[in-house]
Amino acid sequence: MTHPMFERRVIFFGGKGGVGKTTMASATAVWAARRLNKKTLIVSTDPAHSLADSLGKVLSGDEITPIPEIPGLFGIEIDAEAAVTEYGSILQAQMGENDLITEFIGEDVSDLTLPGSDEAVSFFKMLEFLNTTDFDLIIYDTAPTGHTLKLLSLPELLDSWLYKMIKMRHRLGRTLGIFKRMFSGGSDAQDLEDQAFSQLEIMRDQVLWAREFLTDPKNAEFVVVTIPTLMALWETERLIRSLMAHDMSVNQIYVNQISPENPNCVYCSRRYENQQKALERLLFLYQDDFEIVQIPLFEQEIQGIEALLALGDELYKE
Ligand SMILES: Nc1ncnc2c1ncn2[C@@H]1O[C@H](COP(=O)(O)OP(=O)(O)OP(=O)(O)O)[C@@H](O)[C@H]1O
Ligand SMILES: [Mg+2]
Repeated sequence: MTHPMFERRVIFFGGKGGVGKTTMASATAVWAARRLNKKTLIVSTDPAHSLADSLGKVLSGDEITPIPEIPGLFGIEIDAEAAVTEYGSILQAQMGENDLITEFIGEDVSDLTLPGSDEAVSFFKMLEFLNTTDFDLIIYDTAPTGHTLKLLSLPELLDSWLYKMIKMRHRLGRTLGIFKRMFSGGSDAQDLEDQAFSQLEIMRDQVLWAREFLTDPKNAEFVVVTIPTLMALWETERLIRSLMAHDMSVNQIYVNQISPENPNCVYCSRRYENQQKALERLLFLYQDDFEIVQIPLFEQEIQGIEALLALGDELYKE
């Protein structure tokens, strides 16, 4: 029987910097595409991308790129900067005449950008993929902890932001409409107003839909990746709490880079003992509620399709 994780359509990998998120996400994607024949998309939302490096493939900027060695596997690194510009201009167009609004409410609204526009844009990009039925499985390689949590709280932020905009539209809509008709002499301006207004509402609905979709355990789960150190453990605790607060389903903790025992080397023994202490603590805290997957520190970096597939076999073969 395959792991129940693969019954979901969306899997997130997240955790502290450098613990092995990209490696685990890539290995899972490569494995699902090759061994389960799932049409799989792996998405990097970390602005400091390393997905292409991990796969050993060139991913053409901001486009879904097929990985030729593994039919059915596709990758994309979201180019947040380019997307900010793209969405920025869409929003600008939707907001219409900023100058006019500014005159009415007496403050500059030209920089009424989305809260944390990087995260916002990542989230909207994410929605694009969620909405399609093109893929059986979508795997997200997320940025280190802080960023990911912002991404998760974005629907609320965005929702309140959009509400504000909608309210403002309501308040100003009629006056603006009169103004525009005076200047443009037609009713087209009012139509544009209405379009912009309903666009905002559509965006809000999309965000709420995504939220609902992602917090349904049938659709999505979040795999927490960590290493056996006390510092990583504290951050793991914060991440898990936060994910739970956002109603994200968490079933598994991957403890990566566990050193082997080596009594002939003092440095290695110390490291081993420290790791074992952290691991004991982690098991004590989490093993009743989560599946703890222990992954050894390999002699070599895990890089390239073959190495990732081998790791996938180790993780997921029955
Ligand atoms: N179990 C392991 N054994 C050996 N090397 C590993 C192991 N796991 C990861 N690595 C290596 O550690 C490095 C960091 O891994 P990776 O890039 O997956 O971490 P990350 O959490 O995505 O980092 P970042 O926070 O920078 O995105 C990579 O060179 C990877 O090949
Ligand atoms: Mg990474």
